[in-house]
Amino acid sequence: MIVMNNMTIEQLQARHSTRNFRPLPIPGSLVESLKAELTMINSHEAGLQFKLVTGNSEPLKGFSKSYGFFRNANNFIVAIVDVSFPDAIERAGYFAEQIVLKATDIGLATCFVGGTYSKTSIPVPLRAGQEVLFLILVGQEDIIEKPRPLARIAMKIAHRNDKKWEDFFVERKDWTLKAALERFPFLKKGLQALACAPSSLNKQPFRIWIGQKEEKDIVRIGIPDISDKQFIDLGIAKCNFVAANGGYFDWGNGAAYYQE
Ligand SMILES: Cc1cc2nc3c(=O)[nH]c(=O)nc-3n(C[C@H](O)[C@H](O)[C@H](O)COP(=O)(O)O)c2cc1C
Repeated sequence: MIVMNNMTIEQLQARHSTRNFRPLPIPGSLVESLKAELTMINSHEAGLQFKLVTGNSEPLKGFSKSYGFFRNANNFIVAIVDVSFPDAIERAGYFAEQIVLKATDIGLATCFVGGTYSKTSIPVPLRAGQEVLFLILVGQEDIIEKPRPLARIAMKIAHRNDKKWEDFFVERKDWTLKAALERFPFLKKGLQALACAPSSLNKQPFRIWIGQKEEKDIVRIGIPDISDKQFIDLGIAKCNFVAANGGYFDWGNGAAYYQE
């Protein structure tokens, strides 16, 4: 399920992590659009709950003042998963990115936050089996011309990554990148979509290759480590690929892509 597909690479590139927000509430009509997106996902996706919290800076507080990292992070979406449901972590990444693309489309800025928040300050009750996997900050971007020194260093670390779209393809057997692009022309846009996907610590661990399924050549995607972080990143990458090209992936590592 994806709301937006056939997005352009420019649209996907418009998303970037924002850590400085304006100290303003999100306009009501945009809150309604976001909530509609969350409700649709929450009602269709077993084991996932995305909850919007507005006007609450508690979970990010210690990480704003002492580290000079987030400013005015007062609105966020809590990603809650019940890991007993199949592929819950990867699906959380996929649908979170769908929300982020929607937010970007309506003019809001976002940032995934995996670790640097206070879990005990999340104002959302959890049922047995549920856990908070990450937050998505959301709001209006504040463009700061001269970031404070610590924020600048942190930004540099977070953004050290000079991968090109070609680097997301792994050549295997006879499948050079050139041969793969001739056989699957949509692949270029898909790889470009991966190149602008957000990821934990900007590692972008996901890769595409050509594999086999029922004796047919097929596009596959995978990650090297079976960790929660990389499964979130894998879900995000699949969402970006599908947003660019339509079609769908199976869930799981090494999953096949179907163009429809
Ligand atoms: C699952 C996940 C967790 C993240 N956690 C944090 C975080 O705790 N703090 C932070 O500043 N950025 C966090 N990020 C944002 C990444 O650092 C960012 O996506 C990456 O550096 C690429 O930059 P971009 O999003 O501007 O393209 C996270 C991203 C993802 C996908």
